[in-house]
Amino acid sequence: MPDSDSIPQKSLIDFENDPCRFQKKLLGWSHKNPRPMPWKGEKDSYKIWVSEIILQQTRVNQGWQYFERFVKAFPTVEALASADEMQVLKYWEGLGYYSRARNLHAAARQIVHDFDGHFPETFHDLKTLKGVGDYTAAAIASFAFNKPHAVLDGNVYRILSRIFGIETIIDLPKARSEFQNLASRLLDEHNPGAFNQAMMDFGAICCTPAKPVCTECPFNDTCRARLENKVSELPKRLEKRARKTRFFFYVKISQHGFSYVCKRESKDIWKGLYEFPVLELENAEDFKLEKLESAFFKQKLPKGARWGEISSEFTQLLTHQKVLARFVELHLPPEIPVGFTKESALKKCIKVSESDLTKKIPLPKLIIGFLQKKI
Ligand code: ADE
Repeated sequence: MPDSDSIPQKSLIDFENDPCRFQKKLLGWSHKNPRPMPWKGEKDSYKIWVSEIILQQTRVNQGWQYFERFVKAFPTVEALASADEMQVLKYWEGLGYYSRARNLHAAARQIVHDFDGHFPETFHDLKTLKGVGDYTAAAIASFAFNKPHAVLDGNVYRILSRIFGIETIIDLPKARSEFQNLASRLLDEHNPGAFNQAMMDFGAICCTPAKPVCTECPFNDTCRARLENKVSELPKRLEKRARKTRFFFYVKISQHGFSYVCKRESKDIWKGLYEFPVLELENAEDFKLEKLESAFFKQKLPKGARWGEISSEFTQLLTHQKVLARFVELHLPPEIPVGFTKESALKKCIKVSESDLTKKIPLPKLIIGFLQKKI
């Protein structure tokens, strides 16, 4: 491998001033590497939008199933606008980042009310929709309306940082304009949708984060990272923050085939979902019944009430946190004595049957995991 000083400049193509050569290589690769997906070639802007929002948080394989179920349940923007939030969240259950589903729902209502049911077509109007940022607006504008906007996602940062040997740390605000300008210069303005899709596919299949397939890469003779032996170093990122661990102790109150769940109101990723009464603990040693009793109940358990066993650990890894949860069932007699629970425990809870709990109520992944294990 030659060191960087000895790489003759002429061996690198000046793609910025000759974007057609970049496009030809990329689209040539895309042609030889077809990647069938249900939203490919889709011209319905509503479905394109739904697919893009789903794909922002999951891999294509898993996203595919969610996409098909979601557009079957809500086939048009009007159908989504008139659905209720609980139903929308139920179709999102397990995907995470529930604010995306809430925004999707709110934006469908915006389209119906502010745009008379017509999907906005310009980048500017698209960005007025809740939850639609530069990436989603560029994706919809190019895929659905053939408008010349280049998408900038993790794939694009990776591909461009490697081919052009860009060492800017991509988490820094200045990186966005640098990479966006470059992507926009390279964009095939006559075929923006195909170009954007090819960038994403190329990033997912060839120029992958780990073990990229450089031998199959159409840019391998000119890729700066490859020539300078920096493929695994690019793109440059800030050091990752250590994940904070949180401890959730859930009480599943069971009473004659019914359970109690409350809507999560805190402004976090689970907002709008329903959960069992939960106590957040300081550390793993605090998973003790006394903790629950003093947090939720005013007095000793009433006659006929009994605790089940504390469950094993359920964990969920999120971007910046790790959640460690345990569950315990509290079997209650048919009538809870007045004044038995502290106000906070059951105040906002609704009583639901076991079958509604799994079929109708949107629940966080940890709770679904617990219920599945129980069955
Ligand atoms: N990720 C986000 N949008 C995508 C798309 N249209 N194709 C493949 N991966 C994607």
